[in-house]
Amino acid sequence: MIRPSNTLDTPSILQLHRAAFGEAEGDSVANLVRLLYQDSSAKPWVSLVKEIESKLIGHILFTPVSVKTQSQPYRGFMLSPLAIVPDFQKQGFGSELIECGLNEVQQAQADFAVVYGNPDYYGRAGFVREHRIEAPQKLARPYGWQAMEFKEGLLEKLYGKLLCPRSFDAPEYW
Ligand SMILES: CC(C)(COP(=O)(O)OP(=O)(O)OC[C@H]1O[C@@H](n2cnc3c(N)ncnc32)[C@H](O)[C@@H]1OP(=O)(O)O)[C@@H](O)C(=O)NCCC(=O)NCCS
Repeated sequence: MIRPSNTLDTPSILQLHRAAFGEAEGDSVANLVRLLYQDSSAKPWVSLVKEIESKLIGHILFTPVSVKTQSQPYRGFMLSPLAIVPDFQKQGFGSELIECGLNEVQQAQADFAVVYGNPDYYGRAGFVREHRIEAPQKLARPYGWQAMEFKEGLLEKLYGKLLCPRSFDAPEYW
């Protein structure tokens, strides 16, 4: 089952990210999620959990972002983070959460989505590297900076710096 998360899920969600991202990154990602849940500029988010036999095995979070172009502002969502606990990886659950989340953000009338991750993985969901949205911070791995349009042709005219929730301000996330 995939459902929106609620505040009672937060401890399990943080634990799930620690387990999935491991010793090197787990605490940092869990901390980011904790900060985002307290961040008014991260609302309204789309936060979905995958549950199997009452256990949370996956989580995806999309937070609102925007790009102000000369003609008009565009509204989007940033996918970050996504995690599936190790025992349940490579069974399609991550892809399922991405698909459900993208449906939700499209229903929220978003114009586009962005993600910073492995293009081999996110490319399968339709994210592309060919776009001109500028990341909010200097990227350690520019190759992973991807976008998806929800209106045909949008990425061709969408250029400018991405404005994102304050919790993403730390350079360690980029
Ligand atoms: C990345 C992650 C969310 C994928 O979830 P998942 O449920 O295991 O993935 P799916 O079952 O939907 O897809 C599996 C496929 O994606 C590939 N894949 C998984 N993670 C990948 C990655 N980081 N880069 C490239 N390919 C990846 C697998 O090799 C597999 O390929 P195959 O179908 O050819 O065998 C999960 O592995 C995870 O939580 N990893 C640790 C946290 C993390 O890295 N999150 C993403 C940060 S951007």
